Amino acid sequence: MRAENMIQKLPYQKPPYIVSNWKMNGTKALLAEVMRFWQPAASHLTWIFCPPATLIGHAKAYFPDIILGGQDCSAEPSGAFTGDISASQLADVGARYVIVGHSEVRLHNNATNADIAAKAKAAQSQGLTPIICIGEPEEVHRSGETLTYLKKQLDESLAGVHGEFLVAYEPIWAIGTGKTATINDIEHVHLFLREHLPKVPLLYGGSVNAANTRAILGVNNVDGILVGGASLKIDEFTQILRAGSAVGRNELP
Ligand code: 13P
Repeated sequence: MRAENMIQKLPYQKPPYIVSNWKMNGTKALLAEVMRFWQPAASHLTWIFCPPATLIGHAKAYFPDIILGGQDCSAEPSGAFTGDISASQLADVGARYVIVGHSEVRLHNNATNADIAAKAKAAQSQGLTPIICIGEPEEVHRSGETLTYLKKQLDESLAGVHGEFLVAYEPIWAIGTGKTATINDIEHVHLFLREHLPKVPLLYGGSVNAANTRAILGVNNVDGILVGGASLKIDEFTQILRAGSAVGRNELP
C-alpha cells in the first residue's frame, strides 16, 4: 500500500467504540451477573450495549450510566406492524443507538438497502444514532468484488442519511464462524470506507474475540468493534473491554 494512501489514525484521537450485540440471547439474570464485571472494565472506551429490546429498559433502570442500543428498528413511526419496534419506542426505554442493516435482519426480513436507509432516518428522527451495517457474502469475497459490492451497499443504505451515524463493516462469512477477516483485508476495506466517509466512526465486526481485539483496534481507520458471540461470555468480554481500554489509553501492542 502506498504511504500517501494510509490515513493514519494512531494515536487514538477518541476512545474506541466497543459495541456488543447480544442478538436473541440473554435474560435479566445474565444482565445482573455480567454488569458486575463489565461496568468497571469499561473505561477509556465508548461501550454501546445492544441487548434484546426486552432488556433495554431494565438495563437502563438498574445501570443508568451504560450506553444502550437496539438491534433493529422499524422505518415506520407506529401502527399495525406486529412484532416490530419503532425508533421512538427504543428511545423511550433509554436507547441512544440502534443497529440497522445487520446481515441477519437483511436476510431474515428481506430488508433492502433502501429499507435500511429508511430505518436509519427513522432512528435519527427520534434522536437515536444508527449503526449502519454493511458486509459482503462469501462468494463476493472469493470473487474479489468486495469493494464494488460494498460501494453499492453503502451508497444505497446511506441514501439521504445525514447527521450522526456509524458504519460497521461485517463480512457475512466472518459472522459467527470463527473466520475473522485478515488484518490486511480489514485495513483494505476500512481505507476504502474512510475515503468515502472521512468523519464517520468505522467499526469492524465478525468473529471478534479477546485474542484479536487489540490487533483489530490497531488497524488504520478502525474506530471500534462490533462483537456478537464473544459479548455473551463473561470472562471473554471482560478481556475485550480491558483490551479496548488499553487501546483507549494508547497502550499499543
Ligand atoms: P460474531 O462476533 O458472533 O461473529 O457476530 C458478529 C455480529 O454479527 C455482531 O453484530
